[in-house]
Amino acid sequence: MKSYKNLLLLIVMGCGVLQSCAMRAEVYDNNNKTCLYGNMELQFTIKYETIDKNVSTSVFLLPNNVSTTGSTCGDNTTEPLLKLGFGNGHSFTVNFTHNQTVYHVDVITFVYNTNDSSIFPNASAKGVFTVASKVTMPGLPMDNYYKCVNPEILIINNVTMKFSNVSVQAYIKDGNVSKQAFECSADTPTTTLAPNVTTSAPNVTTSAPNVTTSAPNVTTVAPTPTPVPTPIPKPEVGNYVVKTGNVTCLLADMGLQLNFSITKNQSDWKVINIVPNDTSTSGTCGIDTSSLKLQEKQMMVELVFAVKNSTKFYLKGVNVNHTIPGQFAESNNSLEYWEASVGSSYMCNKNQNFKITDNLFLTTLDLRVQPFNVTDNKFSTAEECFLDSDLSFLVPIAVGVALGFLILLVLISYIIGRKKSHTGYQSV
Ligand SMILES: *[C@@H]1O[C@H](CO)[C@@H](O)[C@H](O)[C@H]1NC(C)=O
Ligand SMILES: *[C@@H]1O[C@H](CO)[C@@H](O)[C@H](O)[C@H]1NC(C)=O
Ligand SMILES: *[C@@H]1O[C@H](CO)[C@@H](O)[C@H](O)[C@H]1NC(C)=O
Ligand SMILES: *[C@@H]1O[C@H](CO)[C@@H](O)[C@H](O)[C@H]1NC(C)=O
Ligand SMILES: *[C@@H]1O[C@H](CO)[C@@H](O)[C@H](O)[C@H]1NC(C)=O
Ligand SMILES: *[C@@H]1O[C@H](CO)[C@@H](O)[C@H](O)[C@H]1NC(C)=O
Ligand SMILES: *[C@@H]1O[C@H](CO)[C@@H](O)[C@H](O)[C@H]1NC(C)=O
Ligand SMILES: *[C@@H]1O[C@H](CO)[C@@H](O)[C@H](O)[C@H]1NC(C)=O
Ligand SMILES: *[C@@H]1O[C@H](CO)[C@@H](O)[C@H](O)[C@H]1NC(C)=O
Ligand SMILES: *[C@@H]1O[C@H](CO)[C@@H](O)[C@H](O)[C@H]1NC(C)=O
Ligand SMILES: *[C@@H]1O[C@H](CO)[C@@H](O)[C@H](O)[C@H]1NC(C)=O
Ligand SMILES: *[C@@H]1O[C@H](CO)[C@@H](O)[C@H](O)[C@H]1NC(C)=O
Repeated sequence: MKSYKNLLLLIVMGCGVLQSCAMRAEVYDNNNKTCLYGNMELQFTIKYETIDKNVSTSVFLLPNNVSTTGSTCGDNTTEPLLKLGFGNGHSFTVNFTHNQTVYHVDVITFVYNTNDSSIFPNASAKGVFTVASKVTMPGLPMDNYYKCVNPEILIINNVTMKFSNVSVQAYIKDGNVSKQAFECSADTPTTTLAPNVTTSAPNVTTSAPNVTTSAPNVTTVAPTPTPVPTPIPKPEVGNYVVKTGNVTCLLADMGLQLNFSITKNQSDWKVINIVPNDTSTSGTCGIDTSSLKLQEKQMMVELVFAVKNSTKFYLKGVNVNHTIPGQFAESNNSLEYWEASVGSSYMCNKNQNFKITDNLFLTTLDLRVQPFNVTDNKFSTAEECFLDSDLSFLVPIAVGVALGFLILLVLISYIIGRKKSHTGYQSV
């Protein structure tokens, strides 16, 4: 086998005064052609113990003067590896896997040295620590680069990595760096079905403006592609089915939208619609627990149903896991939503918003679900939610009546009180 002696070089991108610093690293093959590059801003937040037994947090950026020593292009027998060494013994490593058509990031490894007192002052344990995580992300088509401008978070134990402005490509042939981006879901907030977005230049009419007083017809064309916050469309309604063998045991029709705080600090809310056509369904059916698992691109949503008192079922748990390359994982298994009798289905056509945790909300539309006792692949009788029922209009009336009654009560007691005190004065 031919020995692969990669020439490893490093290009440092200029960091303007106002520009945020992005690190750019390239790995070259033995023909001196780029085979792998990574371009990103990466912020580390690391919790560590100090000598006074306190927990300290160190926040720092991946510097732009990194070494790529140890990186490899990969060949017939080995896979590519991007290793970025920096500072006093720290390194960030990504390795890749591939098949004929797609490639993946496999494992992200971060090694840090708490002996570096400029980053870890007063660390109690001095030495080299390693955290690593397998990354689940969709396959990147060969000859595409991964692009993600928006931040994505990867949390491994006490280390949080926040990636932004990422572009990465591996398996580059003959130095032909791709211009075809595979965009992360964070950059395409409205998960519309557009896998290959052709970025044809907008047809900007640059003809000389008419001298007539009529309004120039260029106004509708945005001069710079400023990202306009697009309104989030309604989620499409999916018909999800779980089977055991050839028998349908769980049915769920719904439009599903998730609203979650990526960094779990309730600031950076992100909304994702589950697109049924992009979703693979799995699940389990048990006697008193059933689950429906929906995997849509980087988003996994699991709904767990349970039975209580042998008569009622309800939505007990919601587990959400969103990856690439970061991870948002949130779950709550002590919910009590969507209650209906076992043997019937729960239905709610109106939009409903459910709080799962402080960082995760779920919105459903045209919901109908039956997690137990499905017969003949069909929904049984529906028990409708209160919102759908004709009685829901009574709520404001009831509140009004109650309020009026209360006011009356206060008035009466005031009058009686006044009368009493009057008689009191008179008797003195
Ligand atoms: C350590 O923690 C204690 C209690 O939380 C606090 O009073 C003290 O100031 C901390 N020391 C340092 C050096 O941060
Ligand atoms: C890799 O495989 C190709 C054909 O599949 C072959 O031509 C080439 O020599 C191999 N390279 C190495 C380093 O084994
Ligand atoms: C990536 O690195 C991890 C840990 O170093 C290793 O277990 C895994 O096998 C590597 N993957 C490939 C495809 O080489
Ligand atoms: C390290 O510890 C010393 C003594 O406990 C303290 O004076 C100093 O402020 C600490 N340094 C940092 C950066 O916390
Ligand atoms: C930490 O630094 C000390 C002194 O600078 C050195 O003796 C020791 O070997 C270092 N340990 C590690 C794990 O780097
Ligand atoms: C991405 O890079 C551009 C230009 O380098 C910069 O203006 C922008 O703020 C960066 N975005 C993020 C999310 O860091
Ligand atoms: C621009 O629009 C004109 C007329 O609508 C059309 O003929 C032309 O092909 C368009 N150009 C591009 C680049 O789409
Ligand atoms: C200019 O005016 C003419 C006549 O009113 C009209 O046909 C043409 O579309 C106008 N062009 C632009 C760019 O406004
Ligand atoms: C399921 O499979 C069994 C045997 O494999 C068959 O007898 C039965 O008819 C099938 N049921 C349906 C609904 O297809
Ligand atoms: C997402 O949830 C947050 C917090 O409840 C809320 O402020 C925001 O408006 C929600 N976004 C959407 C699109 O529902
Ligand atoms: C989803 O797939 C179905 C059947 O394959 C098709 O009829 C429907 O139009 C698709 N919906 C979208 C939005 O592409
Ligand atoms: C889970 O949901 C229950 C009921 O809504 C709520 O009381 C609890 O705080 C939630 N747990 C978490 C971790 O948010």
